[in-house]
Amino acid sequence: MMRVEIWPNKTAVGWRAARIVRQQLARYPNSVFAMPTGMTPLEMYRFLVKWHGAGKLDASHARFFNLDEFVGLPRGAPGTYFRYMQERFWGPLALRPDQFDIPRGWADDLEAECRRYDAAIQRCGGLDLALVGLGANGHIGFNEPGTDPRVGTHVVELSPSSRKAQLPWFQGREDRVPNRALTMGIASILSAERVLMLVWGRGKARAVAKALLGAIDPAVPASLLRTHSHFTVLLDREAAAWYLRLRGRMYGGRVLGPHIACRPD
Ligand code: GLP
Repeated sequence: MMRVEIWPNKTAVGWRAARIVRQQLARYPNSVFAMPTGMTPLEMYRFLVKWHGAGKLDASHARFFNLDEFVGLPRGAPGTYFRYMQERFWGPLALRPDQFDIPRGWADDLEAECRRYDAAIQRCGGLDLALVGLGANGHIGFNEPGTDPRVGTHVVELSPSSRKAQLPWFQGREDRVPNRALTMGIASILSAERVLMLVWGRGKARAVAKALLGAIDPAVPASLLRTHSHFTVLLDREAAAWYLRLRGRMYGGRVLGPHIACRPD
């Protein structure tokens, strides 16, 4: 079942995502998470760090597996997701090294690293909650359009549009953006007990409409999440614009989406 929540802005989306993480931790302290990077979850991490600092969040029994990482950059180099997580989540929450993992894009044997990563997730009993962002081309993690949805962690060639989207993390220097990445597979994401997708901004509005209303097709990797039995989507108004318009047209103008008031604390 898919549940779509529409929130007023990106702060509200981040707040709601952070609340869901906090609830999961409160109910099941030893939960296993898949964690996203990029612009989308910045506010979510900000709230999680704030609540941790205020003693309102205990992540000391949880495990966090990142969705993806670039290939070819040294561990923790600028632009890596390792660095992103270290600065915004693992470090501020003082997580122990055994509590977090990320595909090692700096490994010599990438195939072996993919197998190591899948095995590490399995050893923890599999994912409880997978959080994902959405690429403007419909990708999740770095599963580009057309990816075989059955595979686990694997090496990907990044599409030109996905590389462009990374420019803000590489001082606008396209030559510095890696060509390849490691990503959890769609199968890994779908194996989670729950999947939560966060999206904000008008730049994602078309991708949202395609993913949520178009055909369920590997050409739009995020559309495959609709096959999951517990899939929640958090959108801000801008990201929801096309979805609401098209859904209204498809269902005779009846738009029933929940509009929830936001009280970020
Ligand atoms: C990036 C990441 C994804 C992310 C998506 C959206 O390339 N590999 O994990 O969810 O694309 O990125 P952003 O949140 O910066 O828009």
